[in-house]
Amino acid sequence: MKLLSGIPIENYFSEEIHKKELECFFKNSIQYIGASSMLKKDGDYRVVERLDEAKILTRKNSDLYLLENVCSHRQAKMVSGQGNSINISCPLHNWSYNAEGKCVNTPFFDSCKDKFTLSKSNFENWNNLLFTGNSSFSNELKSFELVNEMNLKKMVYTKTFTDKLNFNWKNYIDGFAEDYHVPFVHPGFAGFVDLKSISWIDHDQYTSQLFKLKDRSFLEKQQTTPKYKKWITEFLKFYPDKLPQYGGILIMFYPNIMIEWYPLFMAISTVHPTGPETCINHIDFFHHEDVIENFPELRDAAEAAYIETADEDSEMCLKLAAGRKILYNEGREEQGPYQSPYEDGLAMFHRYYHQKMNL
Ligand code: FES
Ligand SMILES: [Fe+2]
Repeated sequence: MKLLSGIPIENYFSEEIHKKELECFFKNSIQYIGASSMLKKDGDYRVVERLDEAKILTRKNSDLYLLENVCSHRQAKMVSGQGNSINISCPLHNWSYNAEGKCVNTPFFDSCKDKFTLSKSNFENWNNLLFTGNSSFSNELKSFELVNEMNLKKMVYTKTFTDKLNFNWKNYIDGFAEDYHVPFVHPGFAGFVDLKSISWIDHDQYTSQLFKLKDRSFLEKQQTTPKYKKWITEFLKFYPDKLPQYGGILIMFYPNIMIEWYPLFMAISTVHPTGPETCINHIDFFHHEDVIENFPELRDAAEAAYIETADEDSEMCLKLAAGRKILYNEGREEQGPYQSPYEDGLAMFHRYYHQKMNL
């Protein structure tokens, strides 16, 4: 595809640009906040780290709520992490709130509790994934037909990893949005998916990349790393006959939500800028319910292989950031060409960036 130009080097380092990006991209953006499978039974609660722990997901009578995590009494932050409790209690003076946010206990006050309720935020449930923000994720994705292929309602949350990263957040998106690096940076992953089959979906608010698996005879030869060998071995046991049609369906929902679906396994990462040269990445893992119940080795092997690839990506981002820093310090501006089709998604992300920042 044709492109104006890449992102200026300065925009990976400047404090001023960082502040402008927070306004432009993050202030009103749709945010992924978790999955309904994170709260399995009534009384489960979970503080939303992706919202700086400002909100808590709670569950009552199978309904979910998104409550503020600030006590109505003296405005303490109440809880961290996750747990199960009928009420959320503030550790300072023990004011307590039920899962709908209604205040149910205010020690040593007479008839005070009825006056207080934790504020609730709106959110939406898209195939068991939860999003909040000023616009609707479902609406943006309504023309995305491959959602049926992903069978999201069968994908069950298992764990979260958090990575603090020492580079600008856009380096991470840049790496996610292209596959040109895959044969060189990811020797394991490159032996699993057929990159030549790649195709892209270009939408105002997201891009999607689709590819097929290598064929069975190639997979059986196991030309890959030990971690991917293990994943492929367990994977082929699950599919003794026909392999699934897609090897990967990846969605880059701007500015920072990355949904990576592979058959039976899914990771959702959100990268959040914490400064011009730092960011934090939260990654949620999901597995197909059949894998969780019957194929624990496949679950573990998929996670280990994924982490190998994620570590390689982090290394790549450090190198991108370091090279850009050299140019930044020397006051130079350089951009190379975009390889098509492998870097089409990168060109799409840069076009989106230019539009939002009025470059
Ligand atoms: S600050 Fe929460 S009970 Fe006082
Ligand atoms: Fe990568």
